[in-house]
Amino acid sequence: MLKHSSISAADLISPDPHPFKWRMGVKPLNLEQWLLVDQERDTDLEEIGQLIDDYRDEIIYCEPSAYEGCDELSIEVLQHLQQIHDLKTLKIDQQEGQAPIEAIRRVVQEDLCLLERRPEGWTMTACAVAIPTQWDVPSKYGKTLDVIHEPVPRYDTDLSQPMGTFFDRLRPEAPVWRANRTLTDDPNLRLAPQRRHHPMRDDISINNVADRVWLRVEYQTLRRLPQSDVIIFTIRILRQKIASVADHPETLIQLLSSLAKLPSEVRSYKDSTWRHAQLIREWALSTGQATEEELNES
Ligand code: HEM
Repeated sequence: MLKHSSISAADLISPDPHPFKWRMGVKPLNLEQWLLVDQERDTDLEEIGQLIDDYRDEIIYCEPSAYEGCDELSIEVLQHLQQIHDLKTLKIDQQEGQAPIEAIRRVVQEDLCLLERRPEGWTMTACAVAIPTQWDVPSKYGKTLDVIHEPVPRYDTDLSQPMGTFFDRLRPEAPVWRANRTLTDDPNLRLAPQRRHHPMRDDISINNVADRVWLRVEYQTLRRLPQSDVIIFTIRILRQKIASVADHPETLIQLLSSLAKLPSEVRSYKDSTWRHAQLIREWALSTGQATEEELNES
């Protein structure tokens, strides 16, 4: 029987290489931790259902070629969730005329992307992304991984080739997970793309930054499904206030020193994260949460 998840955002912070380089950063996934269920499930699903009703065209995309993969995904999702005590009788309620990926999205706390191998590369032929972290979802519909990642500086040098090979070689019996991190003053689930370049709010200062800024981690998993041969990419958002991250001093230090190493073009891409990190750094130094030495060393 699966238990409710207790993974926190801070648990998924790991140091970046020095000098900076984007890395694949994939680790073997224990399938028990594929879809995470926690106490917020009902509230999250209600909010996500409302977001889909309000912004369906900006969230849901499904090409007919993806239907077979969606059917296989539905079975996997049900098998996984029905292991949880409260969800034993869970069903996926597919409405007439509704894209199959929408019905699945309504029962999980994760955003979902489905990729198919096409001659031009792995292509996102279906998705249900209701709660993106500052990216423009519709611009990625029907696009390859290389096109999807176009806004990411250094993607072509650091990741394009290893990703292509990795996706081709991903085996159904060897799923993986990885994590991306962002700092934001917006505690909402859905973050609009323009948030990335919003000026820092005037009312956030060194005195309250620990309570006003959140570490937001995307817990991402990748599984290849054996029958339809699609790859399923899930994104689960985990949020934690900086004050609570600071309960784990080593994690806070690791996070701040990794962010301090971002090269200039990545700082511009992760604009608000970079600016929040500067303020958190000042706060950590002024309150003795970290010393200059620790932040420069790790
Ligand atoms: C092993 C697989 C993957 C790796 C290593 C990877 C890597 C990355 C990295 C390094 C970034 C920038 C991170 C940041 O903002 O901190 C990024 C952004 C992004 N990734 Fe991936 N990614 C992977 C798979 C995928 C897949 C399968 C999709 C969707 C089908 C995807 C969609 C995106 C999107 C939409 C962004 C934001 C781009 C934007 O700013 O417009 N990624 N990815």
